[in-house]
Amino acid sequence: VAGFDLSGRQVVISAGGTREPLDPVRYLGNRSSGRQGVALAQAALDRGAKVTLVAGAIEVAVPPGAEVVQVETALQMREAMNAAAESADVVVMAAAVADFRPAQVAEHKIKKSADADDAPVVTLVRNPDILAGLVERRRPGQVVVGFAAETGDESGSALEHATAKLARKGCDLLVLNDVSAGKVFGQDETEVTVLAADGTVSPVPAGSKSQVSQAIWDAVLPLLR
Ligand code: C5P
Repeated sequence: VAGFDLSGRQVVISAGGTREPLDPVRYLGNRSSGRQGVALAQAALDRGAKVTLVAGAIEVAVPPGAEVVQVETALQMREAMNAAAESADVVVMAAAVADFRPAQVAEHKIKKSADADDAPVVTLVRNPDILAGLVERRRPGQVVVGFAAETGDESGSALEHATAKLARKGCDLLVLNDVSAGKVFGQDETEVTVLAADGTVSPVPAGSKSQVSQAIWDAVLPLLR
């Protein structure tokens, strides 16, 4: 372990999936477990940072010692992240934010009608890009880290897609998860590549999310003044 090299630093990390309500009892969600974000929070705590964890739906326990802000929707997550980022040295978007939310949230539980063939049509609208917003509001010296799950396809490799995404989002570091190999959410083992805005590409050896988190903080450290 790297010692207390994050002591005196304030970091804010989002983790887990957002849930986008359809009515009081139903939501659109995703399979994010929150493991990577929670592991990053734990690793930052171990290295002496003050940690705020903005948690959507997560399947793992939150690390003792972190300040936890529980949120449900992408809009709530944006609000919590923007607020916590105001005093943060490092901002990490490890959450799986829903790209879309139902345009309308029904006030009462949506009911079946008597007609067995009848089914409602759900219209979705885009959610804001929280990471892009954080980059826009970045304070001087603040390090902003994004994640990207990419697959290679006809238009380019996962690394090429991630390089383009790093430039598009304007963050300082992008942690690429190559999901081509069929690796899915909820696993503890992971393998990532860290891309930096200066063009540096650092493959991280496969390991537990906790080991990989240490490598991510190692990449953040030289960017901190
Ligand atoms: O564009 P894409 O969803 O692949 O980008 C992934 C990164 O952007 C992750 O860091 C994720 O947390 C963040 N994100 C966001 N707001 C969204 C969608 C993704 O901050 N609406």
